Amino acid sequence: MINPQLNKSETKKSEDESLRVSVLSEALPYIQRFIGRRIVVKYGGAAMAHKELQEAVFRDIALLSSVGVQPVVVHGGGPEINQWLKRLGITPEFREGLRVTDEKTMDVVEMVLDGRVNKQIVNGINKLGAQAIGLSGMDGGLVRARPWANGSHGLVGDVASVNPDVLEPLLSKGYVPVISSVAATIDGTSYNINADTVAGELAAALQAEKLILLTDTPGILRNKEDSSSLIRKLPLSEARQLIKEGIVDGGMTPKTNCCIRALAQGVAAAHIIDGRISHSLLLEVFTDSGIGTMVVARG
Ligand code: ARG
Repeated sequence: MINPQLNKSETKKSEDESLRVSVLSEALPYIQRFIGRRIVVKYGGAAMAHKELQEAVFRDIALLSSVGVQPVVVHGGGPEINQWLKRLGITPEFREGLRVTDEKTMDVVEMVLDGRVNKQIVNGINKLGAQAIGLSGMDGGLVRARPWANGSHGLVGDVASVNPDVLEPLLSKGYVPVISSVAATIDGTSYNINADTVAGELAAALQAEKLILLTDTPGILRNKEDSSSLIRKLPLSEARQLIKEGIVDGGMTPKTNCCIRALAQGVAAAHIIDGRISHSLLLEVFTDSGIGTMVVARG
């Protein structure tokens, strides 16, 4: 609305202001809808590697928690594991592009994930006035690991089961659980599990409102070379179809499958969003159009 009493620069300012107001006000129905609901966020990739992006994620998590949403953060190791392996003179071994985790490497994985990365995230969120608490998959028997069937990559495993009981009292008191992707098998051996998988299974076990994967891509693209071909909303059946047709391939396949599994187990929506964009989490959760791909059970 143009106000005739304003000059050109005042008009521009008032337009900027009304945009800011409309974005803020767009958040209202989502805040109301998601209060008291769980949102499981897999934190990793660029959003973990760059300081400013880290800060933005911590802020978004703190904001979600402050308005009464219940975020749960799941993280992997980022570049820190390699840095520490190097410092300790352990040469990383890769097979088919995946790290082979022997016992010595697993010691470092545990030290870095549970000792360093987990606490950095907890501290980063706490500094902003929310109350985060760090756990590994082992704590309170939260995640039970099982070795990969062929054992080809050493101590790399899968999720055997999830028991989220330990999280209930924390969530009801407003704590933000921050969970590393390390878990133990029934006989007590530590295993490293893919953090997307842990996040997906945890979202299912918590009957979460959302699973959100922070990635280094805009989301699911119809044409990989063209970021304007982003698919904003996708029913589960179509997501399966895209994998079958090979439109979703490479690294996006396990991520999409992880979303599909979570939805099939009752999670309301699964989002693949761009962690390279500052505050992508807030944009996805609190605006109508979001920023990434939202996969839903029904279209
Ligand atoms: N903020 C809404 C939600 O989280 C809508 C998000 C829409 N996102 C999308 N990629 N189409 O439910």
